[in-house]
Amino acid sequence: MVFNFAHRGSLTEAPENTVSAMKKALAHNTKGIELDVQLTKDKQLVVVHDHHFKRLNENIPGKINEYTLAEIKKIDVGSSFSYEFAGESLATLDEILELVPRDVLLNIEIKNIPLLHEGIEEILLKCVDNHDRRDNIIVSSFDHIALQTFQGLAPDIPIGLLFYYRFIRPWDYAKMTGLDIYSLHPNGVYMTEELIESIHDAGYKVFPYTINKEEDYEKLVAGGVDGVFSNNPNIFGTK
Ligand code: G3P
Ligand code: MG
Repeated sequence: MVFNFAHRGSLTEAPENTVSAMKKALAHNTKGIELDVQLTKDKQLVVVHDHHFKRLNENIPGKINEYTLAEIKKIDVGSSFSYEFAGESLATLDEILELVPRDVLLNIEIKNIPLLHEGIEEILLKCVDNHDRRDNIIVSSFDHIALQTFQGLAPDIPIGLLFYYRFIRPWDYAKMTGLDIYSLHPNGVYMTEELIESIHDAGYKVFPYTINKEEDYEKLVAGGVDGVFSNNPNIFGTK
């Protein structure tokens, strides 16, 4: 069984990580969605990848966490994608949890590097619990300390370790953390069958990112990955 994730919703069809992007992803019948979360100035969870607004709205200076949620809700992040989405704002995690059906596996990535969102783990857990959504989620991060904190609060929720760089024996590193890790999420550029096998032998699932070409996807599935993150959910139909 392969579990694939539409990366930031369907980011080629709508502004990434927005409600529209999630709706587009769901229209592909995808059974997995990845999104990124950060905190606003008033400690609300918003779904957004970059720490800065620059790429989403070039007229807005500064960082996400320098604005309150009420301010953020007035900021247009849709026009930079297309006039069709003019006026769309960043989504709260609440909005996305309302929208995404429970049978869709949701990968919630804590975006904590380089900017640290103090206390995000507890706020995330509260939000998940408010929606009674501990089932069918994976919480991931490049910030493994954040995952350690999160697991301390919610040992029953699967965590996934993200790796950007090539680690030597990342599965040994994963064991060394002492955490109960569900999956490793390596950068797709250095995936090999040997790496997949070693990670599996150590007892972890493997979800590489970001795999957009069908031929790469086919190769990875043949090599045994448990799923991928992709900007192109059309490739999921092939497996
Ligand atoms: O979770 C997979 C992928 O989203 C990690 O990289 O930078 O796109 O959040 P990034
Ligand atoms: Mg991400």
